[in-house]
Amino acid sequence: MNEDVKKGLLGIVVDETEISKVMPEINSLTYRGYAAQDLCVACRFEEVAYLILNKDLPNSIQLKKFEKEERDNRELTKNLYEIIKHLPKKSHPMDLARTAVSVMGLEDKETSNSSPEANLRKAIRIFSKTPTALAAFYRIRKGQKLIKPNNNLSFSENFFYMCFGKVPQKEIVKAFDVSLILYAEHSFNVSTFTARTITSSLSDIHGAITGAIASLKGPLHGGANEEVMRMMKKIKKPENALKWIKNAIAKKQVVMGFGHRVYKSGDSRVPTMREYFGKVAKIKKNKSYEKIYDIIEKTMIKEKNIYPNVDFPTGPTYHLMGFDTDFFTPIFVISRIIGWSAHIMEQHAANKLIRPLAKYKGNKYRQVMDLNQR
Ligand code: ACO
Repeated sequence: MNEDVKKGLLGIVVDETEISKVMPEINSLTYRGYAAQDLCVACRFEEVAYLILNKDLPNSIQLKKFEKEERDNRELTKNLYEIIKHLPKKSHPMDLARTAVSVMGLEDKETSNSSPEANLRKAIRIFSKTPTALAAFYRIRKGQKLIKPNNNLSFSENFFYMCFGKVPQKEIVKAFDVSLILYAEHSFNVSTFTARTITSSLSDIHGAITGAIASLKGPLHGGANEEVMRMMKKIKKPENALKWIKNAIAKKQVVMGFGHRVYKSGDSRVPTMREYFGKVAKIKKNKSYEKIYDIIEKTMIKEKNIYPNVDFPTGPTYHLMGFDTDFFTPIFVISRIIGWSAHIMEQHAANKLIRPLAKYKGNKYRQVMDLNQR
């Protein structure tokens, strides 16, 4: 390949951002300068969502106002509930999420207003409504009765409530909250770059998030957390793990939940999520997946020097929480909407149309022959 071609934009800096950074000196991903693992200890997800969108952590009055706005916007229109009811039950919930956000764009009174104020309002509406749409589909496809959002519950509690009809113990809710904090933002990853590219033509936030969801679905990005669980289910029990992973390595298989374009010696989000995976496993009295996890991790590092990314611990954690496997990436969506929205607003604030070049390697110039001469 020609050296001028930077396939996959490898190593290319395409813009500036104030939102997040991987800081190797503190071995952390930082949001607006705060280490993600510190935020996991000190904050609830709503505080981190506010931070990413508004550039600073909220005080108690600001948090209350933000939470009220999030809770007040959770309900869907009758039209959107009807659409969800009529979608094929076998649809992947990522496709449901994509469709739901697209419909929200059709219904939103401010769709064509991309001012910073309107974009922030719309971002919060998408953030509030998407979990409701997903939970509605979660139940509808199982033939269960729909559960409407409960405004007395936090963002995470409400998601459990809408999916399962009850809120689990606070340690489980905390583990879920931590996963959302760790998933909320990660600079110019493929889905965020997709959102920024769509925005760069001055398109609207609903369109940009719809595109970002489609991008996140792929197994090389967010879809990896589902693939991790499918792999663990295939392995079945810890006694099979070593043989399985050695065979995968010998066959040069891509092992899901490992490797990262930016982190080459370990994803800084993993230790925190691994800790909460352990807590959930203890509560659920199921250590089997932890054992499989440890064997695969150890072998991948020893034999390939490739480390797990955050999708490796989140997959089995969500499974132990009781979520269907195909809902893992949609959970990633309900968190990453925050990061995407911040980037969409940042792109709007200093926009330049994103339009790279390609090195042409097709046919040389050809003359068009008449139909009867071809
Ligand atoms: N399993 C086995 N080998 C791997 C893995 C893996 N998971 N990841 C990287 N490698 C190997 C590659 O085969 C390649 O080897 P080679 O040089 O001998 O050809 C080398 O490591 C470099 O890998 P690339 O794929 O070139 O690295 P890139 O930065 O392009 O890809 C990616 C990163 C796509 C994440 C890759 O590591 C991968 O496919 N991982 C599995 C999917 C996954 O877990 N995705 C989630 C990413 S994190 C997130 O989205 C939240």
